[in-house]
Amino acid sequence: MQIGTRSRLLLKRSLAAVWHPCTQMKQHEWLPLVPVARGAGCWLYDADGRRYLDAISSWWVNLFGHCHPRINAALADQLGKLEHVLLAGFSHEPVVELSERLARATGGTLGHCFYASDGASAVEIALKMSFHYWRNSGRPGKTRFVSLAGSYHGETLGALSVTDIPLFKDTYAPLVMASRRVPSPDWRLAERGESARDYAVRCAAALELALEQHHAETAALIVEPLVQGANGMAMHDAEYLRRARALCERYGVHLIADEIMTGFGRTGTFFAYEQAGITPDFLCLSKGITGGYLPLSVVLTRDAVYQAFYDDDVAQGFLHSHSYTGNTLACRAALATLDIFEAERVIEANREKSKRISAAARVIAQHPRVKNFRNTGMIWAFEVETGDPQFSRQFYARALEQELLLRPLGNTVYFMPPYVITSDEIELLAARTHALLDRLPGP
Ligand SMILES: Cc1ncc(COP(=O)(O)O)c(C=O)c1O
Repeated sequence: MQIGTRSRLLLKRSLAAVWHPCTQMKQHEWLPLVPVARGAGCWLYDADGRRYLDAISSWWVNLFGHCHPRINAALADQLGKLEHVLLAGFSHEPVVELSERLARATGGTLGHCFYASDGASAVEIALKMSFHYWRNSGRPGKTRFVSLAGSYHGETLGALSVTDIPLFKDTYAPLVMASRRVPSPDWRLAERGESARDYAVRCAAALELALEQHHAETAALIVEPLVQGANGMAMHDAEYLRRARALCERYGVHLIADEIMTGFGRTGTFFAYEQAGITPDFLCLSKGITGGYLPLSVVLTRDAVYQAFYDDDVAQGFLHSHSYTGNTLACRAALATLDIFEAERVIEANREKSKRISAAARVIAQHPRVKNFRNTGMIWAFEVETGDPQFSRQFYARALEQELLLRPLGNTVYFMPPYVITSDEIELLAARTHALLDRLPGP
């Protein structure tokens, strides 16, 4: 990739001063960093006019495109009033309104919002709150958590303990607390002739066995409803969630829905758990909550959980905090994001858009190198048959040359575009991805 002088200088400074996330920095000796000067809609631009279609919504955060006028205007307005105030002992309009609207989005069942900044912090909060709830309720022995094989819940030590991605976890294994793993209902693992639903039922039976044996020491089961993102966009049947909910109920175990990636319409409903007709005990949200503008995360929970902390004894309260808890600007961006959902009837509009993207991607699904083509809502994924251990990096680099930002997970290529993607952009994404597949070296 040819890079202009202005960008080259920026990249040199970046490599000298910035330690980039989730990166073996030495790889940048051959894989150039991508400089970004501005964004508009689905596109990112460098200072030399080069552009990239952000087909993965900048790590799954962006919903309505970069530099959306409505969110920009809300932030500009908020900047003139209040940028941030501590949330202990103080409150502000945006955090109150956001909490009320999020609670309404859960049908009023999860009426208490506890804020943090990143997804992993929300997971930490849900784990601590669940444990602490049981402790306050006279069950201090419930200290363990159950998660699914292939789960991803973030990189902090608590979140990592319920994560099951060896590349991210193994190095830190001596530091993380033990937790129990149950089979993932990922339908790619179904036996030949077994439906996604039947496989979900089989996995739920394994969960039942685990809870039957270990419920006394188990505080919560944590799941990524419908789609396990980092596990290669592994998709499962909603029946698993229905059964998991019933089992948690039966065995006195909390259900934590980590909707950090799946929330805000990604799976076709506002929250993924709605498709199972259930409600979790804790709901973790982040990423799309601010439309992809600012770090904000939140854990919503039930009144019964909240009440277990409500006491004269200070230590019985949830004494967790982060400096930027409920940041005013971030909450305002989140309110503007919710406004867009309502004003543009986004969930309904996405149903049509999802069909259009699936139709455009049909050529990809039929490509001889493609396996397991799948779609849930506004997420598409498929495996590429390749023996190349460097596939992910090579494909990423070649996609950039074709103006596409695609970041395969192993040999899984996926699309998770901002919802504002246009028909022309859909065609461009499908056609150029197809061409990249055509040009792959032999399997
Ligand atoms: C399901 C899920 N949970 C938690 C996280 C962690 O969020 P963050 O990267 O904001 O800490 C992610 C991030 O990709 C995620 O997909």
